[in-house]
Amino acid sequence: MNLKNKFYMKKDMKKVFLRSFGCQMNSRDAEIIAGLLKAQGYRLAAKPEGVDIILFVTCSVRQHAEDKVWSQIGRYKDTGPRKKIIGLIGCMAQHYKEKAFSRAANVDLVVGPNDIDKIPSILKKLSGKKLFETKIWETDGLARPAHMYHTGFYADKAHASVVISEGCSNFCSYCVVPYVRGVLRHRQHKDILEEITEAVAGGLTDITLLGQNVNAYRQGNVDFAGLLELVNNIEGLKSFDFVTSHPKDTSGQLFKAMAGLDKLKKYLHLPVQSGADRILALMNRGYTRRFYLELADKYRKIVPGAVLTTDIIVGFPTETQEDFRQTYELVKEAQFDAAFIFKYSPRPGTAAAKIDDDVSRQEKERRHKLILDLQKDISKRKKCVKK
Ligand code: 5AD
Ligand code: SF4
Repeated sequence: MNLKNKFYMKKDMKKVFLRSFGCQMNSRDAEIIAGLLKAQGYRLAAKPEGVDIILFVTCSVRQHAEDKVWSQIGRYKDTGPRKKIIGLIGCMAQHYKEKAFSRAANVDLVVGPNDIDKIPSILKKLSGKKLFETKIWETDGLARPAHMYHTGFYADKAHASVVISEGCSNFCSYCVVPYVRGVLRHRQHKDILEEITEAVAGGLTDITLLGQNVNAYRQGNVDFAGLLELVNNIEGLKSFDFVTSHPKDTSGQLFKAMAGLDKLKKYLHLPVQSGADRILALMNRGYTRRFYLELADKYRKIVPGAVLTTDIIVGFPTETQEDFRQTYELVKEAQFDAAFIFKYSPRPGTAAAKIDDDVSRQEKERRHKLILDLQKDISKRKKCVKK
């Protein structure tokens, strides 16, 4: 996300460029940091050229995502007095901690997702110091302060993302999220509703409720379906949706609630990850192929106009041709509207990283292409039918 600077600024204000990678949660974090810095008098820039500070809000979910960030950081090698302050923020910061400084010597600050409130004070400490000699990192926060989910800034004029929960306690064996974002925490529903009401008063009429596992939401006596109903009741709000859901926390009851809410978009992103029971068990997903297919079927029967999308990982350790064939067949059967297909990438510290990554790169690429081509055909056909 590039943040456009549309504000009147004094000449001496420091210019910041924020760049986010990966999921919508990271784009939202970049906005939250932008709001925080704007309130402190920093000027937001739309381009990295000529700025004083560059903050990278980063993703650790796959090796490829990390490689992109290291290569971007590598572009800012200036060692002279005009050196920009470079910040590694978010999941990679939490993953690498102070080791990030030896990986990229031009990084000046490293701040994990639970510590973003400290960014303004760190920047103050760094300014005027000899960069390269001063390094600051903050990665020990256990939970982000409640006010750090909303700092009054949205990059878009019509749509806003609103965090409802952060972290994840599912510990899917391949996934780094519980380690870098922490276990699942729910935001107070009162704060969520207040934020949306304020956003709507400011002219934003389309909202996405965000979290790594939104449908596990529970705070006091309000569960996820209850929260959807409360959001639907907000006056002036025109439409909303949510992302991401976990099949084990999804039920017919949720679909009935979805069907009854007039402002809720009938869109469900429900990652299946694999179509083979053996692999699903190794992934620690907590459901079977049959459970998933029945859930998808129920969703389409209960929710009129239901759109279904998914995530799939190919080449998980030990995935055989037969396991892969089952995923391929599941994609045919489920008829997703869209699917994001990923090649398995071992993440240090996760349970799956202890299993030999035995599917070759070429074979992962072959399986990736087969599913991608199949899904392209399905998506195309479905779009034609809808027209
Ligand atoms: N390798 C490949 N893909 C992964 N994902 C998460 N962790 C990994 C990994 N180690 C995918 C999952 C998830 C999506 C956001 O990223 O499909 O749903
Ligand atoms: Fe990662 Fe699984 Fe949690 Fe999704 S549900 S964030 S894949 S651990």
